[in-house]
Amino acid sequence: YVIGIDLGTSAVKILLVNQNGEVSGEVSKSYPVMQEKTGYSEQNPENWVEQTVAGLIELLKNTNCRPEDIDGISFSGQMHGLVLLDEHHQVLRNAILWNDTRTSEQCQEIYEAVGKQRLLDITKNPALEGFTLPKLLWVKQHEPQLFHKAAKFVLPKDYVRYRLTGKLHMDYSDAAGTLLLDVSKKAWSKEICDLLAINIELCPPLVESHEEVGSILPHVATVTGLSPSTSVFAGGADNACGAIGSGILEEGKTLCSIGTSGVILSYEATGTKEFEGKVHYFNHGAADAYYTMGVTLAAGDSLSWFKQVFAQGESFETLLADIGDVPIGANGLLFTPYIVGERTPHADANIRASFIGMDRSHDRKHFVRAVLEGITFSLNESLDIFRQNGKKIETVVSIGGGAKNDDWLQMQADIFNAKIMRLNSEQGPAMGAAMLAAYGCGWFESLRSCAAQFLKEDYTWIPIQENVNRYQELFKVYKAIYTNTIQINK
Ligand code: XUL
Repeated sequence: YVIGIDLGTSAVKILLVNQNGEVSGEVSKSYPVMQEKTGYSEQNPENWVEQTVAGLIELLKNTNCRPEDIDGISFSGQMHGLVLLDEHHQVLRNAILWNDTRTSEQCQEIYEAVGKQRLLDITKNPALEGFTLPKLLWVKQHEPQLFHKAAKFVLPKDYVRYRLTGKLHMDYSDAAGTLLLDVSKKAWSKEICDLLAINIELCPPLVESHEEVGSILPHVATVTGLSPSTSVFAGGADNACGAIGSGILEEGKTLCSIGTSGVILSYEATGTKEFEGKVHYFNHGAADAYYTMGVTLAAGDSLSWFKQVFAQGESFETLLADIGDVPIGANGLLFTPYIVGERTPHADANIRASFIGMDRSHDRKHFVRAVLEGITFSLNESLDIFRQNGKKIETVVSIGGGAKNDDWLQMQADIFNAKIMRLNSEQGPAMGAAMLAAYGCGWFESLRSCAAQFLKEDYTWIPIQENVNRYQELFKVYKAIYTNTIQINK
């Protein structure tokens, strides 16, 4: 067996996976997010450790697998969150999370000190509030006495791994989201550290995601029931692990993951392309590979909002049940999903959503269809950026809430103009983490052969040309709404 631990924002999910890739046990344990002020989002790292340990205890108790039969453990984790440690590796303050937006000034400071183009050259990404470097600068500026005591920083899952093994590392896929990594050279950027007066010694040693970094500490083994000889592998960022767990491991493979937010992620063999910061460009969990990623902030969240306001108490299944009866384009009704602003392609926190073209004949199912089309159009804007860069989008693996309704999957095929594949069993990033352990242990000669064994296709939706043509027309109108909405807001 192997264990995959996905340290999410609301919960840690732990999977026990056998050599065929079947899930033999699963546990999820939640913890709170603290929002002390508007825009703040923090967690206590101790809660992650407590709940991960509690989850491991429960997992081992509920399955009849012997500790010595577990060959390896690996991790996936929420990206970007800052965990600051002193010289004894004690946590100095609560972790500042990826969805904390207090750092707009620090993003400006980064642009002024490094220069926008130089930052893109080195890190491949723009300075966004969610990334780690602006958080480091915020602590330096607002909590100088505390910052003075900092000896290392790590990301959330690195800290949990440290507490299980006593070893401190960071893998490239997560380091890529700090804005301190030279993404194509795979090294900490001394230049960025120097320009912002950050001591490079704060940065932990870098490793590959499948690398063995230690084993379970004796006291952790006693408490959890794990064997102290179980190998621990570094693991990766949740998006990288989501890509691995969905088989996005070669050119031509793209992922559409719709949860609260929506992610379009595509495999890249090199780290030297120019996307000018329009999409995220990070190191993959597969060694020497990369991925590009666009984010729709309110994807599933737009549908949840609609359900909450107009269909409270109903399930998503019944809400979506009759969208197939509504024609493409919802009889002239269009929706843009900017209820909390947008990330890709507009990076605009102030834009807001719209329904356009309401008619006396529309009823609720038209609105539901329009919401789904708007979410899918927004994701298609990310695909458009990939395509403009010469990328062929042939097959998209769809996971999450967007893979639960057949009509929505056909809509994705028609709007993306690509085949949409659903997997037989979908476990997301936790499965990616388990696969990193399986590959790290030597069960497979590559992550790709692990994917071939672990991941099976369930069904594939093919684009229907007539629908594709109709959606291409509507997409032009959809794109024009953004520009005009800004004018209204002004
Ligand atoms: C990626 C990002 C989120 C977090 C969520 O840039 O901010 O996807 O990784 O866990």
